[in-house]
Amino acid sequence: MKCLIIGSGGREHALAWKIAQSPEVRRLYVAPGNAGTAKIAKNIPIKADEIHSLLSFANQERIDLTVVGPETPLAMGVVNLFQKTGLPIFGPNQAAARLETSKIFAKEFMVRHRIPTAGFRIAASISEGKSILKKWGGKPAVIKVDGLAAGKGVFICDTQPEKEEALKQIFSHKIFKSAGKKALIEEKLNGEEVSLLAITDGKKYHCFPPAQDHKKIGEHDLGPNTGGMGAVAPNPFLLPSVRQQVIRDVVAKTIVGLAEEGITYQGILYAGIILTKEGPQVLEFNARFGDPETQAIIPLLKDDLFQLLLTTAQGNLLRPKPAFREGGSCCVVLASAGYPGPCRKGREISGLKTASKLKNVLVFHAGTIKEGRKALTNGGRVLNITGFGENLAQAIANAYLGVSKIHFAGAYFRRDIGQKALRFLSSA
Ligand code: AMP
Ligand code: GLY
Repeated sequence: MKCLIIGSGGREHALAWKIAQSPEVRRLYVAPGNAGTAKIAKNIPIKADEIHSLLSFANQERIDLTVVGPETPLAMGVVNLFQKTGLPIFGPNQAAARLETSKIFAKEFMVRHRIPTAGFRIAASISEGKSILKKWGGKPAVIKVDGLAAGKGVFICDTQPEKEEALKQIFSHKIFKSAGKKALIEEKLNGEEVSLLAITDGKKYHCFPPAQDHKKIGEHDLGPNTGGMGAVAPNPFLLPSVRQQVIRDVVAKTIVGLAEEGITYQGILYAGIILTKEGPQVLEFNARFGDPETQAIIPLLKDDLFQLLLTTAQGNLLRPKPAFREGGSCCVVLASAGYPGPCRKGREISGLKTASKLKNVLVFHAGTIKEGRKALTNGGRVLNITGFGENLAQAIANAYLGVSKIHFAGAYFRRDIGQKALRFLSSA
């Protein structure tokens, strides 16, 4: 069969790596892909948001399954477009993807279905925002733009000047353009975070091992938010009894709630959960595989990913639930200096071969590009090094062994990925 993956990040390389192992897959394409996917698939020079060109390609090549990586094509309705022409595609349609593409839709949906989440108000102007915050008194608040903002539209505000600055950026400077027409003002919650990904055909679902992302640029979770600097799986903070509670109160309620509202959710439902003293609460939903969570989770999957995705896209998710290896997995992101701000591109990367020959180490490319036989940096997050092992400590050690072999000018990575989880495990 022929499979097309849309996207060019580490997530898509990890998906391609696993899908390429399926005995059913004869041809694998990635659009547009990166230097890593070029080694295991054919890269097609169509960008993820060129959804009409993607459709023409899939039609022409008679692609049996298209897998959508990032959120932008989902928001643009790529799934609706493919389904209209009868082409199988994995991912939620535009209406279902609103769980990610509109934070206000997601919040109001959670209220309608009694899914636990932080208290919130909606503001459509700076004055409305100020008056909501005034009523809230001096409490910390989280201010979020309604639409997609590549992880940059969330302001965690502990002080009054921070709150005012966030409102100014959104409503006066309009830095998020139409994504920032409305903003959510949320209660700030405290606790460990969990990314719980479920695969669903709209009725049945299976949950993957929970992961923990490391969103901040700096060690000890300091500095600005990023797309994610590393991840571990399974996430030990989610105890089995609480996991059952999250599955019942979040995953199941969301899928059933959407169905009741006439929306079939097919694809990955990613619940971003915070474990507060009062219980688990939803921080956000994503309508796709997480990045870098996928690079930690997928290497643990024993089963055929292609078959799992294909049957889901056909509306008939297979039972029994997919099997995962015991042990742990850790993904460390190598970024360019300056990330999450602007960074220089075109730096030559060395040591990739040495790292990928290591046992229990996988190298997934993100912002890389091939130039002749060389791989060059081509973005903020450049590479993802995943280590796995019999336990989390081994997985972390393997990931960092891989990292130590790779070099490029200005490479930056966090040295503490997985340390919080490890401390938690050793204190339990
Ligand atoms: P979101 O894109 O909504 O998940 O927000 C990105 C990150 O901001 C989350 O992973 C949290 O670390 C943080 N965050 C978002 N909402 C809240 C909240 N209500 N309280 C505390 N932290 C939050
Ligand atoms: N790792 C967070 C995300 O994929 O949005």
